[in-house]
Amino acid sequence: MQLDSLNTLIAPDMKAVDAVIRDRLHSDVVLVRQVAEYIISAGGKRMRPALVILAAQATGYQGSHHHELAAVVEFIHTATLLHDDVVDESSLRRGRQTANTLFGNAASVLVGDFLYSRAFQMMVGVGSMRIMEVLADATNVIAEGEVLQLMNCNNADIATENYLQVIRYKTAKLFEAAARLGGILGGASAELEDGLARYGMHLGTAFQLIDDVLDYSGDENETGKHLGDDLAEGKPTLPLLHAMHHGTAEHSAAVRRAIEQGDREELPAVLTAIRSTGALEETRRYAEIEAQSARDALSSLPPSIYRDSLLQFAAFAVDRRH
Ligand code: IPE
Ligand code: IPE
Ligand code: MG
Ligand code: MG
Repeated sequence: MQLDSLNTLIAPDMKAVDAVIRDRLHSDVVLVRQVAEYIISAGGKRMRPALVILAAQATGYQGSHHHELAAVVEFIHTATLLHDDVVDESSLRRGRQTANTLFGNAASVLVGDFLYSRAFQMMVGVGSMRIMEVLADATNVIAEGEVLQLMNCNNADIATENYLQVIRYKTAKLFEAAARLGGILGGASAELEDGLARYGMHLGTAFQLIDDVLDYSGDENETGKHLGDDLAEGKPTLPLLHAMHHGTAEHSAAVRRAIEQGDREELPAVLTAIRSTGALEETRRYAEIEAQSARDALSSLPPSIYRDSLLQFAAFAVDRRH
């Protein structure tokens, strides 16, 4: 499943979202414009805004606030990326040098703050207390997720359940908010809105599980990110946890050492342990279960071409190479 073909259905909407993004990036401060345009013009898959649009269309929304809210969600996502690359000391994103590499950590953090606060200005403009509540809560949970992850860097003893909490907070929460917002705009019943939110949560969890697989097996030309970034940070992701819990004593010790020391040099030994335990296949299998839960959560959504696309998005989250 290609993302492009998935997005054909909502191409006019995504074009309108892009126009809102361009329009709202404006600032009189030159460095704000430079950094924000640098990361936004590099593209990105725009999955979260697509979810807002599809969920709004699938619930029969007729207005135009979905374009504004889709842009809000993409701004929040972009702000988290600017901050995340500083925290992770990453040097490649969207196939380009990261903003922190090019403009420095300070500029990245501050322009991330600009994007967050611009997103909040825009959502105030939409004028719905409920929508502001959803987005304020999501942004807060994402921040908690990143801090939780920081607390668990180099922690080889993290329980799998705690790793799953980190990814639900840092990544799945924004997918959940995106799908829920579409439902709120469409005037969905409480049951339907909750179904969309659960869909987003499971989809986002599958998405991050695959991100964690791609960090060990992806093609940098496709992901646009460096392999091994997670290992360099000593992030105990599911591929590592599985290899450590199921490997031979020797493999297990090598993975533990790599997590505790956060050393990219350990990558070959870690890859051997990962391969011999089938850790990537196991993580994919888990992502597939999450994707199925996402599809199941849409059972009360009336059939439509938009619903079909939401279902296909769940497949893409698992099959993707970028
Ligand atoms: C990257 O998200 C951050 C994660 C949650 C893994 P995406 O993979 O959606 O990033 P872009 O927007 O397409 O670059
Ligand atoms: C990204 O997590 C989550 C957020 C940006 C909140 P990662 O650190 O795993 O994502 P990548 O691999 O840098 O895109
Ligand atoms: Mg990162
Ligand atoms: Mg990652």
